[in-house]
Amino acid sequence: MRNKITIVGAGFVGATAAHWCAAKELGDVVLFDIVDGMPQGKALDLLQAGPVEGYDLHILGTNDYKDTANSDIVVVTAGLPRKPGMTREDLVNVNAKIIRGVIENVVAHSPKAIVILVTNPLDTMTYLAKKVSGLPRERIIGQAGILDSARMRAFISMELDVSVENIHAFVLGGHGDEMVPLARYSTVAGIPITELLSPERIEAIMDRTRKGGGEIVSLLKQGSAFFAPSAATMQMVEAILKDRKMILPCSVYLEGEYGLDDICFGVPVKLGRQGVEQIIQIELTDDEQAAMNKSAALIRSSMAALEL
Ligand code: APR
Repeated sequence: MRNKITIVGAGFVGATAAHWCAAKELGDVVLFDIVDGMPQGKALDLLQAGPVEGYDLHILGTNDYKDTANSDIVVVTAGLPRKPGMTREDLVNVNAKIIRGVIENVVAHSPKAIVILVTNPLDTMTYLAKKVSGLPRERIIGQAGILDSARMRAFISMELDVSVENIHAFVLGGHGDEMVPLARYSTVAGIPITELLSPERIEAIMDRTRKGGGEIVSLLKQGSAFFAPSAATMQMVEAILKDRKMILPCSVYLEGEYGLDDICFGVPVKLGRQGVEQIIQIELTDDEQAAMNKSAALIRSSMAALEL
């Protein structure tokens, strides 16, 4: 049986996610959007790249949820991106309406799917989706930490002129300007960056990481980042479908882990065919835990806008 991956929202993030998905031959793709003709056109275009690129799978564009039935994974990118000067939290009201409707339809048609949220404000939308869907926390996961960690890895690579492959970084917490990059757990060929860079340079890298999404929004002037967000999402899809048991930072519903309860928040998890198969607890210093608490407070302020 081939895997079926539905992507809801065929805009920049969704269409690029479909592209990575096809290029990696992760499974058949259904691209859903409310705009008439647009997902159909993009799906056909992507399908027609197959003979050149050498991938061989079904790619369908649709405005009908019936076509998404019995998906193994559903990636949700539907919703507005931010504009220059906006925070992710500014999107909460408009995107909450969209996510509520999307999740009801997704779960009705694919009750067994693992659902990955990408829409911002990410942790708040993941929380809303968890509540609306009633899915167990193993199967409703937000994408943010892989992207934020990838940004930090890229900045460390630029700073040290070392291959990104040698660099590991850990960014936890909420996907907002209070996210928590952990220098102690960020390494170059296994060496913590605290032994390779001055505290000032590390702080500059962490600051650029926290503002990484905003930097791109300012440059683009309309819309937000999409290559790295969609690539990060596809790493989650691949880890799940191939049962890779990868340890990755993802936003999941916490029940006391890291001292936090009833919130979706970025923590290290093990991703495999069952979805979130384990939440990994790592030791934090008092300062790091304080940063996690501050980040959680920012998410709770945007969660307050949800009518649950
Ligand atoms: N159902 C399905 N699709 C929808 C719905 C809906 N109810 N409402 C809007 N959409 C679609 C839009 O038609 C559009 O094609 O969602 C798509 C969003 O695409 P873009 O505007 O290009 O935004 P994108 O850059 O892809 O970002 C999407 O991901 O990273 C986050 O902050 C970002 O919240 C934003 C989301």
